[in-house]
Amino acid sequence: MIEIKKLTKQADNKLILRSIDLSIERGETVAILGPNGAGKSTLLKVLSTIIKPSSGFIKINGLDLKKDYTEIKKMFGYLPHSSLLYDHYSPYENLVFFGKVYGVENPEQRAIELVKEVGLSFFLNEPVKNFSRGMIQRIAIARAIVHYPEILYLDEPHTGLDQGAISILNNVILSMKAKGTTTLMVTHDFKQAAEICDRIIIIKNGKIVDDFRLEERTLNLVTEKYQLQVEGVS
Ligand SMILES: Nc1ncnc2c1ncn2[C@@H]1O[C@H](COP(=O)(O)OP(=O)(O)O)[C@@H](O)[C@H]1O
Ligand SMILES: [Mg+2]
Repeated sequence: MIEIKKLTKQADNKLILRSIDLSIERGETVAILGPNGAGKSTLLKVLSTIIKPSSGFIKINGLDLKKDYTEIKKMFGYLPHSSLLYDHYSPYENLVFFGKVYGVENPEQRAIELVKEVGLSFFLNEPVKNFSRGMIQRIAIARAIVHYPEILYLDEPHTGLDQGAISILNNVILSMKAKGTTTLMVTHDFKQAAEICDRIIIIKNGKIVDDFRLEERTLNLVTEKYQLQVEGVS
């Protein structure tokens, strides 16, 4: 589904990503862990076609990211740090707008369905600017999936959320997973990573330093491996 070969990204004479090789199968839910500045967001930005790689090769669903990005853009949903929502507009207006951008059939109905899924039907027509961080994030994830993407790129989706918002977000991710969606999620939240992901990748200094499967949902394994690779504790 996602094939990354010898990917590097250089900016201002600094190597942010150093020869990343990574292969992700359809339907996998993968967490990317690593310290601040490791290059995690940069990797998602390259995959989301927001920034260009310096060298290397990326194939999504057999298509070349360099050439076929117009087609590839329809395949993924991206949730960055910022919500990408229009502050003065309601969830309904935002989702109808983004639905139309992506050519979703019946965007009005899709908007109502999504707002219901993230538990904010009561606020369907309230301007987003009055919302809490948790509410904004719920609408932001709805925006990211408005066009039924096959791939989800999530950048620290749990940061700053309360328990209620975390479980709603996790339910959305898990129900996308049940439909076969491939998810790549940057997080600092080991607990959420262990709960919803089946594979963990650790990035440090622009390189993948560990990559393992989580057969059982063990938080201890994640913590142990992270300490070994990043903090040098064994
Ligand atoms: N456009 C840019 N120009 C120069 N340096 C950048 C740019 N974007 C990110 N960086 C640097 O690249 C490194 C990795 O950034 P980032 O991918 O945001 O890390 P992470 O998400 O792992 O915390 C950081 O040192 C950051 O300062
Ligand atoms: Mg980041």
